[in-house]
Amino acid sequence: MQLIDGAAIAERLCASLAQDVAALTATGLTPRLAVVLVGDDPASEVYVRRKVAKCSQVGIVSQEHRLSRDCLEADLLILVARLNSDPDVHGILVQLPLPPQIDAGKVLQSIKPSKDVDGFHPVNVGRLSTGTGGLVPCTPLGCMMLLDSVIDDYRGLNAVVIGKSNIVGKPVSLLLLERECTVAITHIHTRDLPDIVRRADIVVAAAGSPRLVRGDWIKPGCVVIDVGITRVHQSDGGARLVGDTATEELGHARAATPVPGGVGPMTIACLLANTVKAARSLSDERDRQGHA
Ligand code: GUN
Repeated sequence: MQLIDGAAIAERLCASLAQDVAALTATGLTPRLAVVLVGDDPASEVYVRRKVAKCSQVGIVSQEHRLSRDCLEADLLILVARLNSDPDVHGILVQLPLPPQIDAGKVLQSIKPSKDVDGFHPVNVGRLSTGTGGLVPCTPLGCMMLLDSVIDDYRGLNAVVIGKSNIVGKPVSLLLLERECTVAITHIHTRDLPDIVRRADIVVAAAGSPRLVRGDWIKPGCVVIDVGITRVHQSDGGARLVGDTATEELGHARAATPVPGGVGPMTIACLLANTVKAARSLSDERDRQGHA
């Protein structure tokens, strides 16, 4: 079984993005990402810190905007509106989850689709579902890049996506469908999950359920992408990150991602890729207007 080294693939992507950023900067357009953090959720703090650090590694300028946990929805909408109309901001990311007084759907819909580097705006979701471009959510994009490292021709392959979330399950299913896989999406009420998974040539496990997928569910030669990452406490008082698959039982798979070091590093790299894509679209738009 080949371990798919997400950390190495993400580093290669970041190296290539650094060159793209340098080329854009030479034309006077340095990609800029605005990250909005509401409240003091410790996990969100860690994610935001990692995103900001990675931006500076490839030359993207990042700016952090912090609002207090008890801020009003209107305060956040005003901030997003300001970032939408700031010509120097190319990407906007509002870190989730948001506190309960704020309607996350309303906030995500308020982000200008061309700056929506998370790909969560309904316009981008619609574009993904019709295969008409737009910004694609980062984790699903990362999953496809990992699959691309081992699969050339997807046509007719059976893909099973475990989990129907808007952030991973649904968009990754659409990307696999676009590659002409036969896609099954499973969820908590799916019957006979092991039998469905046994037919799969590709499994994307995104249920958030530690070690849900066992080795005897996996057909020999299957490619397994494990999106799960759950902190599990151990008897010695320590904690370990565990994926949605029983990794050590996957010896007969063709390839699989480790946890950690598989999908995780790709998510941030793809956020940077989306920011560069958003900046480049804006620069192309300006060129078109300039030559009109
Ligand atoms: N919180 C956890 N994952 C994500 C993500 O991909 N994007 C945003 N904005 N918030 C998150």
